[in-house]
Amino acid sequence: MEERNREEKVTILAIESSCDETAAAVVRNGREVLSNVISSQIAIHTEYGGVVPEIASRKHLEKIDEVIRLALREAGCGFAEIDAIAVTYGPGLVGALLVGVAEAKALAYALDKPLLGVHHIEGHIAANFVENPELRPPFVCLVVSGGHTHLVLVKDYGEFEIVGRTRDDAAGEAFDKVARAVGLGYPGGPKVDKAAREGDPAAIHFPRGEVEGSPYDFTFSGLKSSVLNYINKANMTGAEIRVADLCASFQKAVTDALVSRAIRLCRERGCRSLAIAGGVASNSWLRREMEEACAENGIRFFRPSPVLCTDNAAMIGCAAYYEYRKGRRDGYTLNAVPNLKLGER
Ligand code: KG4
Ligand code: ZN
Repeated sequence: MEERNREEKVTILAIESSCDETAAAVVRNGREVLSNVISSQIAIHTEYGGVVPEIASRKHLEKIDEVIRLALREAGCGFAEIDAIAVTYGPGLVGALLVGVAEAKALAYALDKPLLGVHHIEGHIAANFVENPELRPPFVCLVVSGGHTHLVLVKDYGEFEIVGRTRDDAAGEAFDKVARAVGLGYPGGPKVDKAAREGDPAAIHFPRGEVEGSPYDFTFSGLKSSVLNYINKANMTGAEIRVADLCASFQKAVTDALVSRAIRLCRERGCRSLAIAGGVASNSWLRREMEEACAENGIRFFRPSPVLCTDNAAMIGCAAYYEYRKGRRDGYTLNAVPNLKLGER
């Protein structure tokens, strides 16, 4: 009996280093976050207007041991209580990923614990499980981050059907580029979000990109060009650019494209639950618009707290738990895969 109880509790130490956050977390049974430590490099990369891969790798190396130590301390446990080591192995910056993967392999080997490589986007989706114990597959998930824009049907834990994807820029990338164009700096998303609060979303009409023949795919390059043209024209004619209005109107155009497709997919597949994930899922306008659209359509809406939307290791520990339960284990040959596809191994 005691043995069974022990088996029922699975405590995972998770590591995430795919971009510019060095993160470690301890997660129990996929839903209980015992600690979630994030060391952000944003201040360093801000100087360069974006993430510099070489610097990111070096900073991960400097921070990773300390971040893991802190995560264990905050969780009140030692290595002895850890059942498995999980790590993001793709997609992301190869040098950055390698730091986490090498660390996880070294720990798994030295401690003789199972090792699990996790897909970064699978982690973002799993972030929804932390605060929503009632959320279970199947559900629709809109994944919107700096590198990805995917409309996904989550059929089961770790089982995905990608129904729509961006044909060009990711939603977060569009936010970052527009922010740079209006001089708000890096990282753009939160700055556009903040500026837009003072603006009128109906002030400027920007296009909502459609992909002919693919109703669930996204395109943001036309919208981005339209914003850049607007800025250039204003600069040439000396017209005033109201940054708040521009941000609010751009944000509305992105959000309209995201919300309409997500709701349409729920309706077409008869899915009653919709979740959002990834850094852009922390956008206040998107959260509100999606919540309203879900309420109007009788769909339950789930979203992680903002801290669990942007990169963190708790989400990796959540996703890893379901893979662990399925019996999946990785060997010491696990490698970083910078362009890893969702649902592929
Ligand atoms: O998921 P994430 O932390 O990293 C990736 O996996 O890419 O997402 C980062 C992206 C960046 O493009 C950032 O500008 C965007 O998420 N982002 C936001 C907000 N917070 C972060 N975009 C819009 N509104 C926000 N509040
Ligand atoms: Zn991410």
